Amino acid sequence: MQISFVVPAEVKDGAWVVGAVEGGQLLAAANRADKACGGALSRALKFSSFTGKAGQFLELVAPAGLKASRILLAGLGKPDGVDEKGLETLGAQIVARLYAAGETIASIELEVPKGSKVKKAELAAHLAFGARLKSYAFDKYRTRNLEDYRKKLKTLAVVTPDVAAAKKAHGGLAAVADGIFLARDLVNEPPNVLYPAEFARRAKAQLSKLGVKVEVLGEAEMRRQGFGALLGVGQGSERESQLVVMQWNGGKKSGKPLALIGKGVCFDTGGISLKPGNALAGMKGDMAGAAAVTGTLMALAARKAKVNAVGVIGLVENMPDGGAFRPDDVLTSLSGQTIEVLNTDAEGRLVLADALTYTQRRFKPKLVIDLATLTGAIVATLGFEHAGIFSNDDELVRRIHTAGRYTGERVWQLPLDPFYDKMIRSKIADMKNIGGPNSGAITAAQFLQRFVEKDTPWAHLDIAGVAWQDGEQKPTIPSWGTGWGVRLLNRLVIEHYEA
Ligand code: BES
Ligand code: MN
Ligand code: ZN
Repeated sequence: MQISFVVPAEVKDGAWVVGAVEGGQLLAAANRADKACGGALSRALKFSSFTGKAGQFLELVAPAGLKASRILLAGLGKPDGVDEKGLETLGAQIVARLYAAGETIASIELEVPKGSKVKKAELAAHLAFGARLKSYAFDKYRTRNLEDYRKKLKTLAVVTPDVAAAKKAHGGLAAVADGIFLARDLVNEPPNVLYPAEFARRAKAQLSKLGVKVEVLGEAEMRRQGFGALLGVGQGSERESQLVVMQWNGGKKSGKPLALIGKGVCFDTGGISLKPGNALAGMKGDMAGAAAVTGTLMALAARKAKVNAVGVIGLVENMPDGGAFRPDDVLTSLSGQTIEVLNTDAEGRLVLADALTYTQRRFKPKLVIDLATLTGAIVATLGFEHAGIFSNDDELVRRIHTAGRYTGERVWQLPLDPFYDKMIRSKIADMKNIGGPNSGAITAAQFLQRFVEKDTPWAHLDIAGVAWQDGEQKPTIPSWGTGWGVRLLNRLVIEHYEA
């Protein structure tokens, strides 16, 4: 879909999308449209249940007196409730309507209603961003009935009085959309196609052209350095484990980087502690943390963010062959700490442990945020609306929470406490990799904390409930993989870490 910004002019072709606020008052373009069609819009309003609430629409097809094929009147809701996130939702809902209508061309002409704090350029930019997010499709493996899957809408013009300002506001968001789409693609790809080396290859191909320095460590190098925990997980797979290090240096030369770490289990069978059949499908998405980190680095680089950031992702496949690690094995992690494996399905924490140690030792980061589809327990706790956040730094939690409220990628804090830490004591090693039947998301976080070095501000996001969705739950997320985290992390950088 081609999106452009244009100044107000007669709509000569396709749909004309105009707005009204709650109570039904038409905004300026809607009034013009109404006049042009001899008051047909206001007459239609009288006979409809449309009240201007956010998410409501009223359609007038082929109105006399207009060249436009239809008027689509969109509800903006209460003016003081019109914000960036709401506009993105609206942009996506508009596109959904235009898809259903079969339109190929459309113009959106919505004004900032009196009483809203949003700026004109931001309104246009966020509508366009929402429209773009909705236009994502993962249809590369369909060979039949393509007409049913390919949407007709090809050209979308967003009308705004100041085109240059809208373009500028949209520039950063277009970069973020690129990052989200990369993350979604990586999560949606099937595991026979996207195994660790292929993920690494794509990360390198996509990011190096944007100026990100990308290094890939293979098994031989990791063995030399002592990545015993990560390599233990990958040893039952035909596919080689990889560690990808992505550096974006857009900030001050000497500035310590922010570190983003992702769990990249390209498929999680559970290993020898094999998952039951119904729990296996979907485990291609167990690399969503790594995808979010990769997508974020893309977004930061594509918009040339003035920040130093490093992304480190551990890529493995958790498979149960004759060489696989097994329950009762003891692994020696890169940190030197030993881990008694009591369940090979608690593998993500093992991958993250070594990635955490490597990142802190090499980069001495300002802070560390890890993202991982780590536990089923977080899904049982928070469902699909919030990711769990665990941290040793309340200010960092507050910042991430605030950024999440803005983007709609919300987090909810759960506790860390020495009491829970006791639950991962091992009879023979420094710790065990499971904590028992209760508080599973917390004991997983306690495990990770043992690999966080003293004084490093750290937050762990358990994204198992938000990384993918069945069915379409949110207008801006049309696919299975959500790309969760890219917007949140990008926003966090904008609000606090950009020079
Ligand atoms: N990748 C899973 C967690 C998961 C489950 C993500 C469902 C998304 C949806 C993780 O590796 C796992 O298997 N965790 C186990 C831990 C347990 C063995 C302590 C779990 O949650 O059951
Ligand atoms: Mn697992
Ligand atoms: Zn897993």
